[in-house]
Amino acid sequence: MIISLEHIEKTYGTGNNRVPVLHDVNLAVEEGEYIAIMGPSGSGKSTLMNILGYLDEPTAGVYRFDGADNAHAGDARMAAIRNEKIGFVFQSFHLMQRRRAWENVALPLLYGNVPRKERKERAEAALIAVGLQERMDFYPNQLSGGQCQRVAIARAMCTRPKLLLADEPTGALDSKAGQQIMDIFDTLHEQGMTIVMITHERAVAERAKRILYIYDGWLKEEPQE
Ligand SMILES: Nc1ncnc2c1ncn2[C@@H]1O[C@H](COP(=O)(O)OP(=O)(O)O)[C@@H](O)[C@H]1O
Ligand SMILES: [Mg+2]
Repeated sequence: MIISLEHIEKTYGTGNNRVPVLHDVNLAVEEGEYIAIMGPSGSGKSTLMNILGYLDEPTAGVYRFDGADNAHAGDARMAAIRNEKIGFVFQSFHLMQRRRAWENVALPLLYGNVPRKERKERAEAALIAVGLQERMDFYPNQLSGGQCQRVAIARAMCTRPKLLLADEPTGALDSKAGQQIMDIFDTLHEQGMTIVMITHERAVAERAKRILYIYDGWLKEEPQE
């Protein structure tokens, strides 16, 4: 099991400003699984994703990832886990506009102290894998949305993570570009990658092997009528 969430609670704020967002979330994901989490806007999808990705900590409950309970690990340890073991893809790509495609892809390797020559080689291999061998030296504003998302996927994969987390990866794309992204996810899944994808599009969720639902912070196995 790569992910285990037990009785996870997340509350923002304190006192009268308390906003309970996640309630008793339990989830087990096996290595190599491809799951989708669907839910309406404001239901807690990104909050859950941030906890899974060590971008935020739960208020209560236990999160085990890759064999370790890293609760209260501290910011430095959380950042190291994030950088070494988790690849992220976001709706809005989060690329650096002043860096070329390959430099964006290589950025996580810079934090991992990989030598420059190897960084470039690995970035190029990751870009080839998403079909962008002709665009390595382009800047993000010279690429389409779908191409930017493919750069983001290459960046997520070039550290060879154990988990790919995607928050609405097709949310900013037209349906053709979105399908290309989903085709890449299929390939990654076939290669053994564990994928947790958040989406509110039914057709996108159905590309995953298991679909879960979240409503008002409650994670469910079945959709609500
Ligand atoms: N930092 C925060 N402080 C207070 N409330 C927050 C914060 N982040 C998210 N929320 C609230 O938590 C709920 C879930 O947000 P979010 O996880 O972003 O939902 P989703 O991704 O499903 O649209 C929303 O009601 C939102 O307003
Ligand atoms: Mg969200």
